[in-house]
Amino acid sequence: MPELSNRITTLNNGGTDGWDVFYKARRRVAAGEKITELTIGEPDDKTDPEILEAMHQSAIGGHTGYAAVPGTPELREAVAKRVAAQSGVPTTSDNVLITPGAQAALFAAHLCACDAGDTALYIDPYYVTYPGSIRGAGAVPHAIVTAPENGFCPTAIQLSETPEASSLLINTPNNPTGTVYDANTLEAICGFVRDRDMWLISDEVYSTQVWEGAHISPRALPDMANRTLQIGSMSKSHAMTGSRVGWLIGPEEAIAHLADLAIVTTYGVPGYIQDAAVFALAQGKGLEDKHAKPFERRKNIAMRLLSGSKVIQVIPPMGAMYMMLDIRSTGLSGEEFAHRLLDERDIAVMPGESFGQAAAGHIRVAMTVDDQTFEQAISTLREFAESL
Ligand SMILES: Cc1ncc(COP(=O)(O)O)c(C=O)c1O
Repeated sequence: MPELSNRITTLNNGGTDGWDVFYKARRRVAAGEKITELTIGEPDDKTDPEILEAMHQSAIGGHTGYAAVPGTPELREAVAKRVAAQSGVPTTSDNVLITPGAQAALFAAHLCACDAGDTALYIDPYYVTYPGSIRGAGAVPHAIVTAPENGFCPTAIQLSETPEASSLLINTPNNPTGTVYDANTLEAICGFVRDRDMWLISDEVYSTQVWEGAHISPRALPDMANRTLQIGSMSKSHAMTGSRVGWLIGPEEAIAHLADLAIVTTYGVPGYIQDAAVFALAQGKGLEDKHAKPFERRKNIAMRLLSGSKVIQVIPPMGAMYMMLDIRSTGLSGEEFAHRLLDERDIAVMPGESFGQAAAGHIRVAMTVDDQTFEQAISTLREFAESL
C-alpha cells in the first residue's frame, strides 16, 4: 500500500477515539448479553411515522434523483424561517446550506473559517468529533479547558489567554455537560471573537432541549451575524439521526462558497429526506417538545435518585440529553469507573475522559432508554459507586 496521508492518519492524533467502553458494550450486546446502554446520543424515540410517510410519498413521487446541492428551495426557506423566528435575526434561504447532518456542517465550517495550519479553538469538555473535525479540515485544534466550578463555561480570562486563531467552536446546550450558556458567557465569547476578528462556529443541535435558562443564539448578538457559522440538525430535535439532515447558517458570501464545497464533497442531501424534513419542521414546536420531554423527565428521575449521595456529585443538566456525574470521590478515573460499571453491573456509560481533560473523573450518562430501565440503571449506578 502506498503511504497514507498525514491528514487521514492523524485524525485521532495517534490516540484512541475515546469509545472503548462503547465498543466493548456493543460487542457484548452482539453476543446476546443484556446491557443497559447509556452511551451515545441516540434518542430512544424513533422518527415519527408521519415523517416516514412524507419521506415515502416523496420517494414514490420521484424525488430520488440528484437534489439541489445547497438544499431544496423549500427546505432552505423552512430552515431560514425557523432560525429567524428562534433568533430574531433576519435570515433568508441564501444564508442556509443544507448538509448531511451537523457533523458535515462542523467539518465544512472549519474548512470555511481556517486555512491549513491555522489554529481553531474549541471548548473542553467537547463533543468527541471536534478535534478530529478540525484536524481533518487541516487546522490545528487548541482546547480551552474549562472548570467544573465555572459550570464548564469558558471565562473571559481564559479566552484572552488563547493563541491567535481563526475560529472558536462553541456548543450550547452542551454535550457532554448539559450546560446552557447564559447571556454573560455569550457576551464574553462574542466580545472576544469580535475583538480578534475571528469566526464563531456555534453548534446548536440541542437548541430545542432546554430545561433551565433559555437558548440564546450568539448570531443574534450585535455584529455577530456576519461572523457566525451556526449549525443545526434534525437528528435530536426530531429523532432523525439516521436521516442525516442538518444545516449551516452564515453570511451569504460564505454560504455561496460552502455550496461549492458541497459540490466537491457530499453533493447534497437526498431529496426525499429533505422533503421529510420540510414536513417535520411544519409540525412546529409540538413535535419538538414531544421529542424533548422524555429527557427532562429522566433528568428529574436521576436528580431524585442521586440526591443525598456522598459519592456521586450531580452536575444538574440545563439542557441536551446527558448528565455529567462527578465520581472523583470514588478514587477511580472516569474510564476505570465506566469499565467496572460495565463489567460488574452491565451498564454502559461514557468516561468523562472521552470528552477531554476538563471532564476527567466524571462519567456521562445518556438519558436514552425508557424511564423504567433508566430508573433501574441509575439506582444500580448509585449502589455500585457507594460500594466502592
Ligand atoms: C454537540 C453535537 N454536535 C453535532 C452532533 C452531530 O449531529 P448530526 O447527527 O446532526 O451529525 C452531535 C451528535 O451527537 C452532537 O452531540
